[in-house]
Amino acid sequence: MEVALTGTAPLADVLTVHGGTPLHGSIRVRGAKNLVSKAMVAALLGDGPSTLYDVPNIRDVEVVRGLLELHGVRVTDGAADGELVLDPGNAESANVDQINVHAGSSRIPILFCGPLLHRLGHAFIPDLGGCHIGPRPIDFHMQALREFGAIVDKTPGGLHLTAPNGLHGTKFKLPYPSVGATEQVLLTAVRAEGVTELRNAAVEPEIIDLICVLQKMGAIIKVHTDRVIEVEGVPRLGGYTHRPIPDRIEAASWAAAALATGGDVSVRGARQADMMTFLNVYRSVGGAFAIDDSSEGGIRFWHPGGELRATALETDVHPGFMTDWQQPLVVALTQARGLSIVHETVYEQRLGYTEALNKMGATIQVYRECLGGTPCRFGRRNFRHSAVIAGPSKLHAADLVIPDLRAGFSHLIAALAAEGTSRVYGVNLINRGYEDFESKLSALGAHVER
Ligand code: EPU
Repeated sequence: MEVALTGTAPLADVLTVHGGTPLHGSIRVRGAKNLVSKAMVAALLGDGPSTLYDVPNIRDVEVVRGLLELHGVRVTDGAADGELVLDPGNAESANVDQINVHAGSSRIPILFCGPLLHRLGHAFIPDLGGCHIGPRPIDFHMQALREFGAIVDKTPGGLHLTAPNGLHGTKFKLPYPSVGATEQVLLTAVRAEGVTELRNAAVEPEIIDLICVLQKMGAIIKVHTDRVIEVEGVPRLGGYTHRPIPDRIEAASWAAAALATGGDVSVRGARQADMMTFLNVYRSVGGAFAIDDSSEGGIRFWHPGGELRATALETDVHPGFMTDWQQPLVVALTQARGLSIVHETVYEQRLGYTEALNKMGATIQVYRECLGGTPCRFGRRNFRHSAVIAGPSKLHAADLVIPDLRAGFSHLIAALAAEGTSRVYGVNLINRGYEDFESKLSALGAHVER
């Protein structure tokens, strides 16, 4: 995507990147964005305060904090850096106009449904935001909530939910193992009356970590084989104290940046167990890594020299290759010799960013067909969801506009790998999910300025 240079993007939202310098050094990742935000919502279900450690300073956390505070939850910073204390003792209904201030800023508000219904008997959910990577419907969420006994009223401003007869355990099979819908069911089932059985559930590490949070609060949740989760509802839950799993998406993003720029980056806090699939691919394309088993832990990622190798990969639900790892890795694949094939099976429109890479000199073609071993849901629906990347390509600088969070970080990586000076517009979007990314870039020796 090319920017009209006469446009009015605020200067503070533009990053100038002088590319061509390999990233070298060490940075740290904190709690996973996609767990922390959900654990914060879970605090609403408890009778007492909860404490969450290692919370990153990112926009999504701010949005959830704001929404919790509007609902009377007292959120305070604890003594340790990144410690958050959430006290739902005075939870109350929030003013719809105030809630609407958060409309369009994140997808997390949808997960307030169950906790608010349990706590207050009703809920108002503003229109959702998040990345523009496909239609991102919420039909599974709504179906599941109705199964529990909720009544959902869609209005132009958002969703109004009530549960006049309470919420009751149910048997429900997800049409696809959606992360959000699984979390919706968990956050509703834990205090619903009776037993809930969820089939075809998502089992991402962030979901298992949310189950750990809920278990600490007093929930009874069994994770069976074959994506079946069984929840025995309990009438009351307490608070929790929890240190979240590290952010494996951020870790993989820095790993890809190390590879694409020919650098060497240690990601302190990254955990091997959550990244096995990524590590296999990283190694097979010619990247090197070493696991640090010290108490802080971490993974060092580097380009060992020589040529990178092309690969074929499909994104998938856990334990497959995460869709959020796809965009950063593709930038590195532009530097691999041969034809790489990427089949995106989780989101139908997550390859739009390749256009910008092509403008920088990459050779990437996108296809409507499923170019992978498994035909996916998007194959017959006219979505360009497969890509062939021919490399290696010399990337050159360009002016870029960031379309969404993960693609945005990929644009940054491409600008860092390219020869010359790029301007990246809309970088504030990256703050949604990457804490202090500018300081981290500087710490790794990148030449960037606002
Ligand atoms: N889907 C439906 N109907 C629904 C829900 C989902 O059709 O009601 C479809 C989606 O359209 C998509 C697929 O199911 O095609 C998977 O969506 P899922 O519900 O799993 O995604 P999500 O919960 O909205 C979370 C992460 C995403 C991550 C996905 C997949 C959060 C806040 N977001 O989204 O992360 O890509 O799971 O792992 O947890 C990101 O961090 O940048 C990000 C987009």
